[in-house]
Amino acid sequence: MTSDAAPDAGRKRTMREHRGTIYLEDAQILAHRAWPGNQHVLRVAAPQAARRAEPGTFAHITCHPSVPLRRPLSIMRADPHDGWIEFLYKPVGTGLAKLTERRPGETISVLAPIGRSFTPSPSWPRVVAIGGGVGIPPMIFAAERLAADERFATPVVLMGSEVPFPFEIDDAPSDLPGMPRDATASMALLESWGVPSRLASRAGLPGAYRGFVTDLAREWLAAQPPGALAETQLLGCGPEPMLHALAKLAAELDLPCQLALEEYMACGVGGCAGCAVRIETPEGPAMKRVCVDGPVFDAREVYPALFG
Ligand SMILES: Cc1cc2nc3c(=O)[nH]c(=O)nc-3n(C[C@H](O)[C@H](O)[C@H](O)COP(=O)(O)OP(=O)(O)OC[C@H]3O[C@@H](n4cnc5c(N)ncnc54)[C@H](O)[C@@H]3O)c2cc1C
Ligand code: FES
Repeated sequence: MTSDAAPDAGRKRTMREHRGTIYLEDAQILAHRAWPGNQHVLRVAAPQAARRAEPGTFAHITCHPSVPLRRPLSIMRADPHDGWIEFLYKPVGTGLAKLTERRPGETISVLAPIGRSFTPSPSWPRVVAIGGGVGIPPMIFAAERLAADERFATPVVLMGSEVPFPFEIDDAPSDLPGMPRDATASMALLESWGVPSRLASRAGLPGAYRGFVTDLAREWLAAQPPGALAETQLLGCGPEPMLHALAKLAAELDLPCQLALEEYMACGVGGCAGCAVRIETPEGPAMKRVCVDGPVFDAREVYPALFG
């Protein structure tokens, strides 16, 4: 189901599942900023995608004329009013490395929004969004939408990285009872929306909890009163070991949990099965395409053995 919200509905838009029209747009680069750790934030003008994007959906983009295949990037933010979408990426190969050379004013081809988005249920109004590395972008998008959705409590975002975080850090975060004492820093942008966040790293980054982001989640959730925990659900995106650890935590605490997978892709639109993963369905195991059947799946579908 796609959203029919007006373009200027802005922050009042609620989260709805997306799996509908995909637009092809020649998107002008509006801003392209490099952060330490070879991380880059890219904002492009793509008004159609900006109107339809939902947290968890992604764009399949051309990086450079010399790179034939598109690369998938999660949509980190979408402004339906001003018509832009934003990405955070970290090159691991040739394509995204060439993308770093592109400058504001140049144009890239954007196919978006693709895939099924997160669909948190208001039955569990306390959402904890947990992102690791380049899995952070969909968590920021989800937090923005959830903060504007009165059916939900203010979400909490936990983020992990082993390189400096690619955003401004706030030293005076909002209060989060039960947080480990070393988790003192938060993301300034989220704070500006009234969304509390905390950071985790094993690299000794200042203000960050020392450990995996899933360990931070475990410690904080363990300190929550049972009534609050019973209203909690988890969203996650990050590398596979992080998703596995998060699903394990969800299973132990009996919390609903949705995960966005970031498999390697080719066509990106359901045609090649190059992104197929084994998923548990009510009819038994099946191969599902991450690009169009996902990238968001229930943790029980991805790691059925953890849930018994
Ligand atoms: C739905 C989805 C959302 C995603 N969102 C993001 C995001 O928001 N940000 C982000 O940074 N990433 C994201 N990714 C991951 C990203 O799209 C992939 O990592 C992408 O392939 C990186 O492109 P690249 O050009 O840097 O590397 P690629 O050239 O595609 O290389 C990918 C991997 O293959 C290896 N490789 C490449 N060429 C060869 C070769 N010839 N032989 C052997 N190995 C090789 C590379 O070393 C690397 O490990 C997402 C993926 C998916 C599916
Ligand atoms: S990448 Fe081709 S079907 Fe998913």
